[in-house]
Amino acid sequence: MVFLNAVKKSFRQGPHRALPVLRNINFHAPRGKTTVLIGPSGAGKSTMLRCVNLLEIPDEGVLRVAGKELRFEKNEKRPPFGKAYFARQREILSLRRHTGMVFQNFQLFPHKTVLENIMEGPVLVKKENPNEARDFALALLEKVEMYDKKDSYPSTLSGGQQQRAAIARALGMRPDVLLFDEPTSALDPELEREVLNVIRTLVKENNTMIIVTHNLIFAREVADFIAFLDGGELLVRGTPGEIFSGAVPKRVSDFIAAMSPQDYAI
Ligand SMILES: Nc1ncnc2c1ncn2[C@@H]1O[C@H](COP(=O)(O)OP(=O)(O)O)[C@@H](O)[C@H]1O
Ligand SMILES: [Mg+2]
Repeated sequence: MVFLNAVKKSFRQGPHRALPVLRNINFHAPRGKTTVLIGPSGAGKSTMLRCVNLLEIPDEGVLRVAGKELRFEKNEKRPPFGKAYFARQREILSLRRHTGMVFQNFQLFPHKTVLENIMEGPVLVKKENPNEARDFALALLEKVEMYDKKDSYPSTLSGGQQQRAAIARALGMRPDVLLFDEPTSALDPELEREVLNVIRTLVKENNTMIIVTHNLIFAREVADFIAFLDGGELLVRGTPGEIFSGAVPKRVSDFIAAMSPQDYAI
């Protein structure tokens, strides 16, 4: 469902320096499976996820999401202009629509109720019939156990409730792939648990998901595949059995040992 082929991304640091953040990423997240991305802070996990939905544009490489493929060439550094520019933007938007993203810090629209947050994209962007969009939004709110909060504003909700609403909002766009960037790292264990339970439900329903998390117990539980990123390189990708077997590069086993999963509440 999601393919990255030789994807590279650097960030400019001043006029003559560039910080390579993704060095040569080859990655695959299969349809209907949960792929968990782990690795130390600064490894490039968020950047990789943001490249999948083109919130960041790769410098080089190939990205394929739900059968739509975009190629990024080095000599494209001089951005296209005029018609070519708008054509490219359309391609980017059209690819992004196949993805739904859930961020660490929720990012709901503060001046809209929970229900309005979920209906906004389907009605304004996808031009869905408002009544149908509303029915679907309410069904999603049932799923994330937020139906009784449908008319609340985000600021009146707990972090766990906001994140569950954010998940419903992502689902509202009927994405082919769901991207989660450390969805519970801003939450207390109690609230983390209710969000993880929603994600568990989505796993059981065989949604295609890519989840960045530091919660290795959860990763081991839900992942079909785990990929380990360090220093902008994807060092290994395997099943939880393979990753936790110890038969992995030392950087990976050291990271797993240092994360001491027994400290994590689930
Ligand atoms: N927009 C940006 N501009 C400049 N540097 C960035 C930007 N986003 C991320 N970085 C840098 O890229 C590296 C990887 O960041 P990130 O993808 O957020 O890692 P992770 O999510 O694994 O912690 C870090 O060194 C970070 O400072
Ligand atoms: Mg990050």
